[in-house]
Amino acid sequence: MKRTFLITGASKGIGLALAHRLAARDHSVIGIARNLTETFPGPLHALDLSDRAANEELAMIVKGSNIHGVINNVGLVRAAPLGDIAVETLEEVMRVSLHPALVAVQAALPAMRSRGWGRVVNISSLTVLGSVERTSYAAAKAALTSFTRSWALELAATGITVNAVSPGPTETDLFRANNPVGSEGEARYLSGVPMRRFGRPDELAAAIEFLLSDDAAFITGQTLHVDGGASIGKSSL
Ligand SMILES: NC(=O)c1ccc[n+]([C@@H]2O[C@H](COP(=O)([O-])OP(=O)(O)OC[C@H]3O[C@@H](n4cnc5c(N)ncnc54)[C@H](OP(=O)(O)O)[C@@H]3O)[C@@H](O)[C@H]2O)c1
Repeated sequence: MKRTFLITGASKGIGLALAHRLAARDHSVIGIARNLTETFPGPLHALDLSDRAANEELAMIVKGSNIHGVINNVGLVRAAPLGDIAVETLEEVMRVSLHPALVAVQAALPAMRSRGWGRVVNISSLTVLGSVERTSYAAAKAALTSFTRSWALELAATGITVNAVSPGPTETDLFRANNPVGSEGEARYLSGVPMRRFGRPDELAAAIEFLLSDDAAFITGQTLHVDGGASIGKSSL
């Protein structure tokens, strides 16, 4: 069945890979990003989700699009060690990660409820398990996994499922901006992945696509770690 999904942070990386997967299955995709790209396979709206006013526009887009599912994928990393974290930075990271997620899901809720079918996937992060210099980012991502469990419970009897996907280090602009090739960060992340490689955006997209499918109807409130084993622990070899 052809459905319509909203993806925040859709012009690159995991969001764009997911958009291509869904479009290949004949679904419609609506994207949000600050910059437009011609490679997005559907309407892409230019919105800066760090801007408080953008949330009103986001709600309008969702309400006008008869959405079947929302993928809360936008995220913001502001790396800093404890001792150097401004309260404003924490506030900014929380705002970008959480406000659009709440706004988009609440705006999509009436259509999903009336249909008796809906999907929400929140994109979390391996860093929720503990990560240096990621206080703000990991806290925001942990809040998203908490949203996931609370919303899943509230919506359990409605046909709407809510799950999270928690990526490990994945080859995207976001990852490379914070961990350039040859950096100490790159080496640290790689040493934490038992498979000894980084994820590919499409490998994350595949997991998200499954959670959006009819086949995943009995799964809700879960966080699926897609991370080459990084959430299990370091390789013993
Ligand atoms: N890559 C990893 O290693 C990794 C690991 C764990 C979790 N994650 C999570 O996975 C999600 C996707 O990350 P990614 O690695 O795919 O990132 P990415 O390749 O950098 O893509 C980020 C997307 O978000 C958009 N975006 C960024 N800031 C925005 C804003 N203020 N308003 C609207 N759109 C915005 C970007 O487009 P514009 O720049 O045009 O706005 C882009 O489309 C994020 O939530 C991230 O935290 C990633």
